[in-house]
Amino acid sequence: MYNIAIDGTAGSGKSTVARALAKRLDFNVFNTGDLYRGLACAYLDMGYHNITEKSVKDFIKRCEIKVEFLEDGQHTFVNNFDYTSRLHEEEISVLSSKVAPFKKVRKKVKKVQRQFAKNNNCVMEGRDICTAILPHADLKLFITARPEIRANRRYQQNKNEGKSYEEILKDINERDYNDSHRKVAPLKPAKDGIIIDNSDMTVEETVDYCEKLFKEKVR
Ligand code: C5P
Repeated sequence: MYNIAIDGTAGSGKSTVARALAKRLDFNVFNTGDLYRGLACAYLDMGYHNITEKSVKDFIKRCEIKVEFLEDGQHTFVNNFDYTSRLHEEEISVLSSKVAPFKKVRKKVKKVQRQFAKNNNCVMEGRDICTAILPHADLKLFITARPEIRANRRYQQNKNEGKSYEEILKDINERDYNDSHRKVAPLKPAKDGIIIDNSDMTVEETVDYCEKLFKEKVR
């Protein structure tokens, strides 16, 4: 099976690039953030509230995670309940980033990710795919862009949601800092990965470049 691993900074367009690249190559695209998001939904549904090491350990023991690809894309199940429609609620975005740093959580999620990559040609995207989950992937990419460019992209996408460009830039700088400074699975390029700064590239150009890199690698 061919595996392409993509990590990158918030707002770099890595999810869009991963989806488009997978489509061109007729691979599955696997969004790993959805697993942490699904766990965050289940955390609340199972009656947990505050995040403590003890409660997360207890919670994760009681969870089975599963991903299925249906006609409309990736679905995330925890204990056989499909949480897909709730994954992008604001509360879940915040909670997922609090649940994600725990070792036991990462261990469980890692198993699901590796199993999938073993059985499918896929483009897998997240924060630690190149460094921890698929260090032997056929191609390892780290996608980023200058913070001002990423903030402007988000601002243009979400103009009607009320956040100013300055607020978005502040969020992006904070997320960069938190993602790259956390103790467990920090966001960083793999030593043998390829860094793509797409500040001056369109999505199409980024996908073209990734496709070219993949074809060169597997030729
Ligand atoms: O990518 P997305 O924003 O959907 O991810 C949700 C949360 O899961 C992020 O805040 C991030 O902290 C965490 N995450 C992670 N490792 C991954 C993917 C996501 O820690 N591979």
